[in-house]
Parts: sequence; C-alpha cells; structure tokens
Amino acid sequence: MPKNIFAEARREHNLFRNEKYLYPEFVPERLPHRDAEIDSLVYALNPIARGGKPQNVFVCGGTGVGKTACIKFVLHQLEEHTDRAKHLYLNCFEFNSRHAVLSELANFLGEAVPRRGVATDELYSKLLNALKQASFTPVIVLDEVDQLLCAEDGEKLLYDLLRVIEYQKKGLELILVSNDKALTVRLDPRIRSSLAEQAIEFNPYSPQQLKDILRERAEYAFAPGSLDPEVINVAAAHAAKLGGDARIAIECLWKAGREAERVNAERVELCHLQNAFEAVAEQNLKAVKYLSEHERALLRIIAGKGTLHSGELYQQYASAVKEPVTERRIRDFLANLEAHRLIRSALIDLGNKGKTKEITLAVQGEALLKALDAA
Ligand SMILES: Nc1ncnc2c1ncn2[C@@H]1O[C@H](COP(=O)(O)OP(=O)(O)OP(=O)(O)O)[C@@H](O)[C@H]1O
Ligand SMILES: [Mg+2]
Repeated sequence: MPKNIFAEARREHNLFRNEKYLYPEFVPERLPHRDAEIDSLVYALNPIARGGKPQNVFVCGGTGVGKTACIKFVLHQLEEHTDRAKHLYLNCFEFNSRHAVLSELANFLGEAVPRRGVATDELYSKLLNALKQASFTPVIVLDEVDQLLCAEDGEKLLYDLLRVIEYQKKGLELILVSNDKALTVRLDPRIRSSLAEQAIEFNPYSPQQLKDILRERAEYAFAPGSLDPEVINVAAAHAAKLGGDARIAIECLWKAGREAERVNAERVELCHLQNAFEAVAEQNLKAVKYLSEHERALLRIIAGKGTLHSGELYQQYASAVKEPVTERRIRDFLANLEAHRLIRSALIDLGNKGKTKEITLAVQGEALLKALDAA
C-alpha cells in the first residue's frame, strides 16, 4: 500500500518549536519598546477601576507599529483586574456603517437585536436603554476608524456616541484607532475634544527595536539553534526600511521558517528570508485587484514619483482622471491604500507653510505597475 502523503511529508528537521508565536493574530505577553504608550493607555483607562470617568483616546501611527496589539494587551489586563470594565473590539473594515456598529453595541450590552428590520434610530434608543442597565463600563474600540468615516453616516455614529458620553450618567469609554495622525483634524471640533481627549502616537520601530521584538518572538517560535542570527538582523533592517513595521518583520521571519522547512534545511538561513521578502511583497500586491479606479490612478502617480506631498498628488490626480473626486474622498482612498500596505504616509512640518502629508510607495514600483496593468 502506498504511504500516506502526510506521513511522508514529516520533516527531518523540526525547525519550529511552536509556530503560533509568529501568527499575525498572536498577542504576546510582553511588548518591548511600547512601555510609554502602554502607560498612557493605562492612565486613560485607570479611572474605570475606581468607578470614575475615563478619558477617551485617539491612537494613531503607521501600519504594524503595535497599536492593536497594545490596546488588546491593556484591555485584557484591565478586565483581569476589575469587573467594572468590559470591552468590545470592532474593526471598522468589517463594521463600516452606523447601523452595523450600533447593532453590535446593542448586542454587546445584552439587547437582543434581530439582524434585519430594525431602524437605525431605534437601535440607538435600545442602546441607551441597555446602557442604563449595564453593570460595567463598556470600553469600545473602533479600530481602523477611517473606514467608518468613509461611510456616509459614519460621522453620525460619532455624534451618537458623543451624545451618550456627554449626556448619559453612565458613559462609555471610546478608543479610536487610525493610521492617520491628521484624522481628528477632519472631525467636528466638538467630537474631537470629547471623543479624542487624549492622543497617543505610536512611532515606527527602529531597526534595533525590531531586532529585540524578533529575537523575543524567535525564542519561543524556533527550536534552539535552528535560526541563523543574521536572519533576525536582516529581517529587522528590511522592515525598518518599510516603515518600521513589526508585522512585516514577523511575517518575513515566519515565512522564512516555513520555506526552510519546505526545503528540509537544517537551519533558517538568509536565502530562505530572501524568498520570504518576495512572497510578502507579492501578497501586498494582490490587493491591487480589488481597488477602485481612483485608487489605481493614485497608485500610478505615486509609483512614478516614489515620494510626493499630498497637494502635489491631488493636482496630478485631478489632471489624470476625467471625473476627479473631492480631496476628502482622496484622503479616504489614501487611508485604504495605507491599510493595504501599498503606501506609507507621514505628516511633515513645512515651517511657516503649515503641515503636509508626505506619501511614499511601500512596495517596489516596477512590480506595482505590472500588477496595475494586469488588474
Ligand atoms: N512591541 C512589540 N512586541 C512584540 N510584537 C509586536 C510589537 N509591536 C507589534 N508587534 C506585533 O506586530 C504585529 C503588528 O502589530 P499591530 O497589529 O498591533 O500593528 P498596528 O499598529 O495595529 O498596525 P495596523 O495599523 O496595520 O493595524 C502584530 O503581530 C503584533 O503582535
Ligand atoms: Mg491594527
């Protein structure tokens, strides 16, 4: 009888001790180089434990800099410490309308909301009722909140929450998360001052910081002696160049390990890492297929320039397409391109000329143009 193909696929060399430590959704127990950011979150949330009024928070920073991981870590610790807090985490890629968010909120607070046939305003009053009964302070995380603001009634949801927070005795804690540091500038000043009382900015990781993060993850993930230490240095340098993104660093390390196992190598070496860099870059380019015509036009311009300011980008875009959309829509598109890790943006100070956004391509230009042509 022929041997089972999975039995045959067993490796001579088990390079991983436990791969799960490199999974993207894994939340580590220690987050090196984020002590200050974690302290700020604790400071904002701490009043809940004493029955006081917490501060709403706006968390911002580029992709893969630990925003989501730190928030999840802090909330886990808070709930371990006190019964007075319970959190609801919503990624606005998934919940991207007022109705969707209010419905999740009402459900979370114990209101049985049918999936269909409930008017949005009715949901809001159900939510208020449920809030009055709640024995805890709800902590609501709206991650990737840019996606919600792209929706027509997204801003209205923020007004709903503002009203809850300002007029209800029993409030809720709101944590808004975005890649865009300038997001709050776009919001109504009242929303800004109440819903984003405290801003916590996460800076990109330096190569050295990425090395520390990778080393710690690698220690749990790989069997002793199965990783060439140079792999960590090179992966950290690569991810630092791509915006100080820990997700890219970890993903490359994981893929390098998988590749080394696939070819039955004794150790994970630089050649496997190189292979992983290519695989990760290719994966980002897959998103191109699902982009709108406007997003593709923007990408072509950015690919041509490498780096440019948002004003210049808008001008070039407006002359390149027949029916240009407003600058506000462009900002939403750019947020989406950044979330797909195709571009990076940074707010830069032009001295007395104010501030502007500098936009940089985060993938290889030629490969991107090819993907755009094929899409
Ligand atoms: N300081 C750290 N120590 C260990 N792992 C980290 C650290 N910072 C980030 N990571 C890991 O890197 C990955 C990306 O982090 P995270 O998802 O928190 O980024 P993010 O800032 O939310 O990015 P995005 O804007 O793309 O959502 C996660 O797997 C996370 O566990
Ligand atoms: Mg995140």
